[in-house]
Amino acid sequence: MVTIGDKISLPDFPLLLAPMEDVSDPPFRAVCKDNGADLMYTEFISSEGLIRDAIKSRRKLDIFDYERPIGIQIFGGDEESLALAAKIVDVTQPDLLDINFGCPVKKVALKGAGAGVLKDVDLMVKLTEAVVKSTSLPVTVKTRLGWDEGLLNIEEVAERLQDVGIKALAIHGRTRAQMYKGEADWTLIGKVKNNPRIHIPIFGNGDIDSPQKAVEYKNRYGVDGIMIGRAAIGYPWIFREIKHFVQTGELLAPPTVEERVNVVRKHLRKSLEWKGPVVGINEMRRHYANYLKGLPNIKEYRSKLVTLNNGDDIEAILDEIIVRYSNYEIEASPIELINYHEKCPVN
Ligand SMILES: Cc1cc2nc3c(=O)[nH]c(=O)nc-3n(C[C@H](O)[C@H](O)[C@H](O)COP(=O)(O)O)c2cc1C
Repeated sequence: MVTIGDKISLPDFPLLLAPMEDVSDPPFRAVCKDNGADLMYTEFISSEGLIRDAIKSRRKLDIFDYERPIGIQIFGGDEESLALAAKIVDVTQPDLLDINFGCPVKKVALKGAGAGVLKDVDLMVKLTEAVVKSTSLPVTVKTRLGWDEGLLNIEEVAERLQDVGIKALAIHGRTRAQMYKGEADWTLIGKVKNNPRIHIPIFGNGDIDSPQKAVEYKNRYGVDGIMIGRAAIGYPWIFREIKHFVQTGELLAPPTVEERVNVVRKHLRKSLEWKGPVVGINEMRRHYANYLKGLPNIKEYRSKLVTLNNGDDIEAILDEIIVRYSNYEIEASPIELINYHEKCPVN
């Protein structure tokens, strides 16, 4: 069992759904939860936005009981705003409050928020302490290895943040300068985990895209659990596949076409429920291609899915897909980790 603070108990080697702006909203989280995500986070929420009462920011606070345990993630570079935002988050009573010190994109990092604070550990500690003091929730942090190759300070960061009271740390094995380039390097994550002074759970993050890699990294770096982002987009089954492999050493068969389509259906229904008929339909459009990847000649159906404007019509197409591909077995194929260096929606 892995515990965060004294109220959150997770199973051994928990799998976390990474916070992802414009992706990890309630509809997406619902299908990840169904498929085994043990702890999930909201997409990051600007502390300034929350204080200004920006509708978009407030909406991101929506969480549901079936999602628990769930964390709300905030970011910001100003002590007072972060502390105030933490108080606003308190009202919605998530299970934990996570601070983002990892976002590399210019509009965030260069304002001293996100990964920006990796250049100023004193400030990072001060901001964290302010949040810890202003909330009754367990506070956790998600960050990167450091600012760049010349400033790999995660070992110092981990100790100092633990000293001011954070209850878990998730580390993405890249620097801010790397954005999403190159391969994530987990060596330093392993070092933090194996530092005898560190007693809070350490979650590793970066480039996990298969059960084999998850187990290899678990064994090699000894982390308490792993956080998965891009591999879950269009493939929430990654969680159950990793779990099965950890428990049995055997690979689970990939989801059938019917299972895939039914997850699309649930995602769509949740999207309509939470976002309403117009935004719900629109925002769902970017997900179909990811879910249906690998099906031959799917283009014709896909173009219908992304042009229809009514939930029932879309579901009728989904039914057609199940019938059309009823005898088709999708082979297990590597999950493609999109390089968000240029595509990152928060850029
Ligand atoms: C589309 C997208 C949006 C993201 N938004 C956030 C965010 O809001 N907060 C955060 O801490 N990290 C964010 N990240 C980073 C991920 O949480 C994660 O650290 C990163 O994708 C590496 O993990 P992966 O290789 O499993 O995808 C985002 C990543 C992507 C791809």
